[in-house]
Amino acid sequence: MEVKTSLLDNMIGVGDMVLLEPLSEDSFIENLKNRFEHSEIYTYIGSVVISMNPYRNLPIFTPEKVEEYRNRNFYELSPHIYALADEAYRSLRDQDKDQCILITGESGAGKTEASKLVMSYVAAVCGKGQEVNKVKEQLLQSNPVLEAFGNAKTVRNDNSSRFGKYMDIEFDFKGDPLGGVISNYLLEKSRVVKQPRGERNFHVFYQLLSGASDESLKKLKLHRDFSKYNYLSLDSAAVNGLDDAANFRTVRNAMQIVGFMEDEVQSVLELVAAVLKLGNIEFKPDSRSNGSDESRIKDKNDLKEMCELLGIEQSVLERAFSYRTVEAKSEKVSTTLNVAQAYYARDALAKNLYSRLFSWLVTRINESIKAQGKTRHKVMGVLDIYGFEIFEENSFEQFIINYCNEKLQQIFIELTLREEQEEYIREGIEWTNIEYFNNAVICNLIENNKNGILAMLDEECLRPGTVTDETFLDKLSTVCAEHQHFESRLSKNSKFLTDHSLPHNCFRIQHYAGKVLYRAEGFVDKNNDLLYRDLSQAMYKANHSLIKQLFPEGNPAKVNLKRPPTAGFQFKASVGTLMRNLQTKNPNYIRCIKPNDKKASHIFTDSLVRHQVRYLGLMENVRVRRAGYAFRQPYEPCLERYKMLCKRTWPHWQGPAREGVEVMMSALPVPAEEFSYGRSKIFIRNPRTLFFLEERRRQCLQDLATLIQKIYRGWKCRSHFLLLKKSQIVVSAWYRRYAQQKKYKKIKSATTVVQSYTRGWQARKLLRELKHQKRCVQAVTTISAFWHGTQIRREYRKFFRANAGRKIYDFTIQRIMQKYFLGLKSTLPSMSPVDKNWPARPYLFLGGVHSELRRIFHLWRCKKYRSKFTEEKKAVYEEKLEASEIFKDKKALYPSSVSQPFKGDYLEINKNPKYQKLSIAMEDKVLLADVVNKINRANGKGTARLFLLTKNSVVLADQKTGQVKASVPLPDLSSVSVSTQSDGFFALKLKEGSASAVKGDFLLSSEHLIEIITKMHRMGTTASDREQLDIDISDEFLVQFKHDKVCVKFIPGVPKNGNSVSCKRKNNRLLEVSVPSTA
Ligand SMILES: Nc1ncnc2c1ncn2[C@@H]1O[C@H](COP(=O)(O)OP(=O)(O)OP(=O)(O)O)[C@@H](O)[C@H]1O
Ligand SMILES: [Mg+2]
Repeated sequence: MEVKTSLLDNMIGVGDMVLLEPLSEDSFIENLKNRFEHSEIYTYIGSVVISMNPYRNLPIFTPEKVEEYRNRNFYELSPHIYALADEAYRSLRDQDKDQCILITGESGAGKTEASKLVMSYVAAVCGKGQEVNKVKEQLLQSNPVLEAFGNAKTVRNDNSSRFGKYMDIEFDFKGDPLGGVISNYLLEKSRVVKQPRGERNFHVFYQLLSGASDESLKKLKLHRDFSKYNYLSLDSAAVNGLDDAANFRTVRNAMQIVGFMEDEVQSVLELVAAVLKLGNIEFKPDSRSNGSDESRIKDKNDLKEMCELLGIEQSVLERAFSYRTVEAKSEKVSTTLNVAQAYYARDALAKNLYSRLFSWLVTRINESIKAQGKTRHKVMGVLDIYGFEIFEENSFEQFIINYCNEKLQQIFIELTLREEQEEYIREGIEWTNIEYFNNAVICNLIENNKNGILAMLDEECLRPGTVTDETFLDKLSTVCAEHQHFESRLSKNSKFLTDHSLPHNCFRIQHYAGKVLYRAEGFVDKNNDLLYRDLSQAMYKANHSLIKQLFPEGNPAKVNLKRPPTAGFQFKASVGTLMRNLQTKNPNYIRCIKPNDKKASHIFTDSLVRHQVRYLGLMENVRVRRAGYAFRQPYEPCLERYKMLCKRTWPHWQGPAREGVEVMMSALPVPAEEFSYGRSKIFIRNPRTLFFLEERRRQCLQDLATLIQKIYRGWKCRSHFLLLKKSQIVVSAWYRRYAQQKKYKKIKSATTVVQSYTRGWQARKLLRELKHQKRCVQAVTTISAFWHGTQIRREYRKFFRANAGRKIYDFTIQRIMQKYFLGLKSTLPSMSPVDKNWPARPYLFLGGVHSELRRIFHLWRCKKYRSKFTEEKKAVYEEKLEASEIFKDKKALYPSSVSQPFKGDYLEINKNPKYQKLSIAMEDKVLLADVVNKINRANGKGTARLFLLTKNSVVLADQKTGQVKASVPLPDLSSVSVSTQSDGFFALKLKEGSASAVKGDFLLSSEHLIEIITKMHRMGTTASDREQLDIDISDEFLVQFKHDKVCVKFIPGVPKNGNSVSCKRKNNRLLEVSVPSTA
């Protein structure tokens, strides 16, 4: 769970001096001491952070601490530099206000460390990303590089910044770092050639000698031993807690990260080596013939090596150390240099070389870390300038450094004390004035354009005639004698005061931070910062990429006879620019305090701290804060910022901003004495009130954010839903389209199949029809062709010669046929069917026709003959025909019967009275009446009997009496047997079991046998209900006489007594009939 601490929670002493009770200098120091002893090195005065140097590593700069202070209210947690950094960063990011962080304090108070902490905090909390991280890394890594070249061990600080540094870090609208710009202020270059006792030259020299590999040292023509170099002080080369070798590696690595090329690093190191070599060049006097002193280089080895390093011709440099050429208008005067001058020239060259190298480094770093794009960036400036310092011997550099600190104090006073009080008056807030020391007078003493010390120094430097530091001091003493912050022997003397602590060649300035005694010696030279032109020209000639850039004035083509601006003038100008720059930004103060002079932890020297508290004006600062209001803000931004705390002012307030703020404040549970309304601003007395407002605002913002989130989420969900719905419609539309398409395609293909089948079927049908038609047409065509052919042939055949023979033949045949037929007509035989005549055949080929015609003619003649017949005659002939069918070629009697007509009633029974009775007895019409012989079975003799045949029966009657002897119904007859011979015997056989069969069969003989048998047969033929009578023709047959069966056998006999037939009984069973042959 997050632990919420407050400024007031678990506090050691008081965290904010504004809350100190009772407020006195003692209680102030006591509070600081109390907190320092409990490792609480930070204390607030309102929004100003007092930082005590702990001289040890405290566990309060961890990433966890960064997280703890991130996005928290300034007064929410115990005082910390991170709280200030966070406040500044958030106000830059959220309120778009450019910020500057002013870190002040004397040397060793912890300014540089504080600036690094601020930078590392900002780097930790701002945005992340590959590009942003690279920028951050470059910005952070610029520190070790600049510290190596610009920091040195002093008696006050082992890592004292010997240059002023102001770094603008640029951010985009999101608060991500884009790059930065570093401005450097006056490097203490005198340190290159000389260091006070107990101090060192710049770190880089020691780092190079300790950290570089043997190989690269050899390349640079250097030895590892510090003592070999005059410019390196011997007594304090090694510093406790400083690992030069490790730092060298860090610096090289940092240079690489910042973006230095390998050859650039090498060039830089060559220059550093050259400076060391330069220090080893020594001169000896050499009297010339004209009596003047001239310097000579003692040992040229170092010069040679240096020239080799820089690519300078040795003779050129040698000459530059021996002569000085002064150009005035068109004249050029060359004078020799004595030993002192030569040493001066050497040191001037070394200092220039080094300081220019340093400036080049800053420019080069700026190139790398420069922000891209031209849009306006938000800027956070971090000022880490050398602190106020008082040495045993203070020279021009200290003067300049302290002037700079005066200016910073001034801006602090301007912005916090004076400005604040003035603001209360301006705003009409009730206010009791607080006295404080305004150091504007001291600034004026130094920088006043007319009679300020710097102006005086410039005047002295530019004045023709002999100019020395003494003349400068004299001038100063005269002009500034009356100034209450200036003291010198002369000015004191003029007031008849004696001060033995003030040597003759010194002057004293009472700075805001204490009195400093400056030695006038060197002021003029250092202000002039002269480098003989011969040297700069020699440097320009160097065959070294970097050196040439560093000495552009050495270019003979650009000889400038004008004096360059003095160091003091340049510094004043740059400090002026810096101040103006700082005034445009929102200041955040870190006031660094050094607890002791021994660089030791846990030691709190009261007097030292009291002194710093005094000159930093911290008491006044507290008083002003306490008397006044902790926070103020114009009404508009205030209303804009807090309007959500009141329903009436949220979201828009229509009236004037002040009224809005009043309405808002009255709606809040804040006591009325906690705030006042000024003319254009609201003043809030207590930070807690502000914190309360901020907390409420934060909650409100959270609620608003939730509301926005809610609405946004609702909107998002809704739009998502709508999108889904829309998409779903699109998808379903597409799907339906697809499905329908598929279905349609299926139907279409099915239809196509059906269609194709139908069409196929139709087509086949049509094809069949067409084929049929075609065949018909072909047939018709063929037929018509043939027909036409035939027609044509027929029509034209007559014209064909080939047909001529045929035609003649046909004609001849026709003629023959005509003649034949006409001849036949005239020679036709008679119409008698028995006429056998037929004309002879005229031609052989007519044989078939001739006989056919004969047959047809005969048939026709017969037909004609038959058509003349009556019904009776027709019946006679039919009987004749039937007789022929029965007997022809079967019975020898038949041929003789053919010519005898069938009379039938031979007896004329109806006419004959004799048979009248018989005729009456006959029920049916008598078809045949004849006299037959009834053969007696006993002897074979015949008895005459009348034989009558009617339609239904056969009657045998006595010839004489006409008495019916036997009447046999025709159906009782089974068959009639006759012989094949010419006899008239026939046997009537009766059906066994019939009534007539009792008497047995009849064996009869008649002359009209053929006729009798035919008529009897015919009866069977014409009567439909009767069976056909069987006629058995054979020469042997059995006759059933009463009880016996007798065989009647016909044998040919010899004619005796004419042609009579004799019948004899041979035995009981045989009757033999002998029939004489007719042949
Ligand atoms: N917050 C700190 N924690 C631990 N040590 C510190 C801290 N601040 C300063 N120091 C120690 O004090 C020394 C001096 O600090 P720093 O270099 O920041 O002083 P300065 O104010 O920049 O001095 P100068 O004006 O000489 O540059 C540092 O080298 C370091 O050892
Ligand atoms: Mg520093």
